[in-house]
Amino acid sequence: MDFYEVIKNRRSYRFYSTKMPTDDQIERIIDAARLAPTWANRQGMEYVVVKNTKLVKDVWEAIGQENKFVDAPIFIVGIIPESKSGVNNSGEKYYPVDFGICFEHLILAATAEHLATCWIGYFNEAKIKEILEIPQKYRILGLTPLGYSLKPKGQVKDRVPLESILHFDKF
Ligand SMILES: Cc1cc2nc3c(=O)[nH]c(=O)nc-3n(C[C@H](O)[C@H](O)[C@H](O)COP(=O)(O)O)c2cc1C
Repeated sequence: MDFYEVIKNRRSYRFYSTKMPTDDQIERIIDAARLAPTWANRQGMEYVVVKNTKLVKDVWEAIGQENKFVDAPIFIVGIIPESKSGVNNSGEKYYPVDFGICFEHLILAATAEHLATCWIGYFNEAKIKEILEIPQKYRILGLTPLGYSLKPKGQVKDRVPLESILHFDKF
C-alpha cells in the first residue's frame, strides 16, 4: 500500500472478529515502531503484546469502554519510562511526544498489514500495570486492539479543510 493510501485507510475500529494476526505481522508492526525517531535517540518505548485470552479479557475490563473492542484478539500496550526521554527549554517533558510518534508508527504499520487498530487513551492505567506486571516507572499513554474489523470503514473523512490549517510563511 502506498504511504498516502496507508494514511487515508487508517481508521479507528471498535468491533473485531476473533481472527488472530500472525506473529510475523506483529513483529513487523513493532519493528516499524522501533524505527521511529525519539528525543536524542533515547528509544524509551517498549510494547506489551497481550495475546493470552484471560489477560486480553482483563485488559479489556480495565479499558472499561462497554461494548467497544469486545472480541479483539490482541491488545498492544505502549509503555515508556518518563526518564527515558528529554525536557525542552520550556521545561516541557517529551516522553508523551516520543510515545505518540512511536505508537502512530505502529498503528500505520498495522494499517499497511490490512489490520484494524484504535488508539485508546481512556483506560485505568494502574489496573493495566497491575494485570501485566509492568514496573511502576513506566507510563502507559495509549493502547490499541489489533485484529480484523467486523466491518470495513471507508477512508478518513470529516477533517477540517486544508486551507483552514495551512499557513505559509506567517500565521
Ligand atoms: C490519543 C487518542 C486517544 C483516543 N482514545 C480513544 C478511546 O479511548 N476510545 C475510542 O473509542 N477512541 C479513541 N480514539 C479514537 C478517535 O476517537 C478517532 O481517532 C477520531 O474520532 C477520528 O476517527 P478515525 O480514527 O476513524 O479517523 C483516540 C484517538 C487518539 C488519537
